[in-house]
Amino acid sequence: MAGRIPRQFIDDVLARTDIVDVIDSYVKLTKGGRDFKACCPFHQEKSPSFTVSQEKQFYHCFGCGAHGSAVGFLMEYAGLDFPEAVENLAERLGLEVPREGGAPRADYAAVHEVLDAANRWFRNQLRQHQRKSMAVDYLKGRGLSGQIAGTYELGFAPPARDALLQELAGQDIERRNLLVTAGLAVERTPGQYADKFRGRVMFPIHSRRGQVIGFGGRVLDDGQPKYLNSPETPVFHKGRELYGLWQARRANRKLQRLVVVEGYMDVVALSQFGITWAVASLGTAATGEHVERLFQATSHILFCFDGDRAGRQAAWRALENSLPYLRDGREVGFMFLPDGEDPDTLVRNRGPEAFTAAADAATPLSDYLFGELAAGLELDRIEGRSQLAERARPLLNKLPPGVFGELAWQRLAEQTRLPADRLGAGEAGGSNKPTPARPAHEPASSRSPSLMRTVITMLVHYPHLGGNISGREALRALTVPGAELLNELLDLLAERPDLTTGGVLELFRDHPHGPHIAKLAAGTPPLLDTGLDAELGDALKKLLNLKAEERIRALTEKARDATLTPAEAQEFKTLLAGHKN
Ligand code: UTP
Ligand code: MN
Repeated sequence: MAGRIPRQFIDDVLARTDIVDVIDSYVKLTKGGRDFKACCPFHQEKSPSFTVSQEKQFYHCFGCGAHGSAVGFLMEYAGLDFPEAVENLAERLGLEVPREGGAPRADYAAVHEVLDAANRWFRNQLRQHQRKSMAVDYLKGRGLSGQIAGTYELGFAPPARDALLQELAGQDIERRNLLVTAGLAVERTPGQYADKFRGRVMFPIHSRRGQVIGFGGRVLDDGQPKYLNSPETPVFHKGRELYGLWQARRANRKLQRLVVVEGYMDVVALSQFGITWAVASLGTAATGEHVERLFQATSHILFCFDGDRAGRQAAWRALENSLPYLRDGREVGFMFLPDGEDPDTLVRNRGPEAFTAAADAATPLSDYLFGELAAGLELDRIEGRSQLAERARPLLNKLPPGVFGELAWQRLAEQTRLPADRLGAGEAGGSNKPTPARPAHEPASSRSPSLMRTVITMLVHYPHLGGNISGREALRALTVPGAELLNELLDLLAERPDLTTGGVLELFRDHPHGPHIAKLAAGTPPLLDTGLDAELGDALKKLLNLKAEERIRALTEKARDATLTPAEAQEFKTLLAGHKN
């Protein structure tokens, strides 16, 4: 495993990076007023609403809501993972990336090398092994051409105990261990090693950059399990990888859409018939990470499932996992095949046109969502409509801010005949609609979150304000919701008053409140530029007053029952005096 990149190094890189240079190397920026602008690279638009602030080291699109730091941009736009993004920035600065605990980067290289060697060997066995006809006949029987087998680099793991081990490791123990690490060999009994894949047709799985990272192997008969997949290894994570994505990207300069099917064979068969925009998740329902990756490659995702119960279940999981990624300009659809068909059989029996037509006729996510939610409910009755609202709320709250989310809430409002502001949008973190105003009789302390929000928003937008805050001790004693986060933020800013908005975001990347901070950063900044200090001071004072109010109320109760201790009586007096001004 590669060592972690030291936090200090990441901080240094971020401090020396200019987000304007980074983004400008991908998207031409023009100076507009104080900020830089461009047409948003994350959604289709004619006039530029994508804004990059040099001062804040932060980008934000007013159209689709995309936002983040330089690292975030590289992850979203260029599809890099976090360490890759840091490496990219370091490279721009001419810095070598240090790793904690030596130079274990080499381990990755060795794992990749052995996977690549295994792939070449499996492919060779399909051409040369004395029993190759087993596999060749099988593939022919399934209608695969030699050409498509070549494109997908299909291979053959011969039915032998340790043929691959013999070939790639021999007596070399280190190499044998490497095969185990790469998921190609297993220790069956102590000291006894065997090939993981035996007597199977091999489907290599490539990373987005084309490296072989794992395999799927299919039996040639009715044996079980039908498919054997590589285990999780340092370079292979099932919940993240998509079979065929690399080939799809190579075959299409621009991917108008990607269809996610269930099986390896489906991807290969579709491709043989010219549908080169299919990928498969690897025996798991599509995860959020899958969706994120897919949206890095295209703006239109289709999920294709069997019409059976299992297919419907998997579709619903895919829907739930897609919701958080549905920014404007992105589209998700669902297609269900007739019972007993899968894309492989469909394209062979009815031709690629039939599959494309089914793709064109896919159900848009919102129709599928509302259709499923309303299933079995009587919407002409109040009970049915309120149940619909109950079911829909947690799902719609997963949607990011934007037009799509607004339309979804509106649709729910129409179907339930309830005003949008009564549906509780925004309660679980979504922010498409303002939270309904709280009834006036609720205690003051329950109003504090919005004041807290104001304060934290100001600090995220103008981190330098956090450098000199008075009354730090009183703030530390606050217990209202959000107080912990506020104090954490203030501690950070006291130490690093030089931080930009983007820098704050990065430091909170893995923090439980990271997404919350990012959302506040993406919101409209407080308008004033001058007098901010006073503004913040005011808000903080109000926040402290809330606490005082609460305490006064409690002490008033006690005073009424005449149970105040002398100390409490003193505190009560002081509080009342302080509260008047
Ligand atoms: P299916 O059982 O639907 O098979 O598995 P299929 O794709 O139609 O396969 P063929 O046509 O019989 O060859 C769909 C996917 O689920 C995963 C594999 O990724 C497979 O492609 N799977 C299935 C497994 O991982 N293990 C299994 O035992 C079965
Ligand atoms: Mn099949």
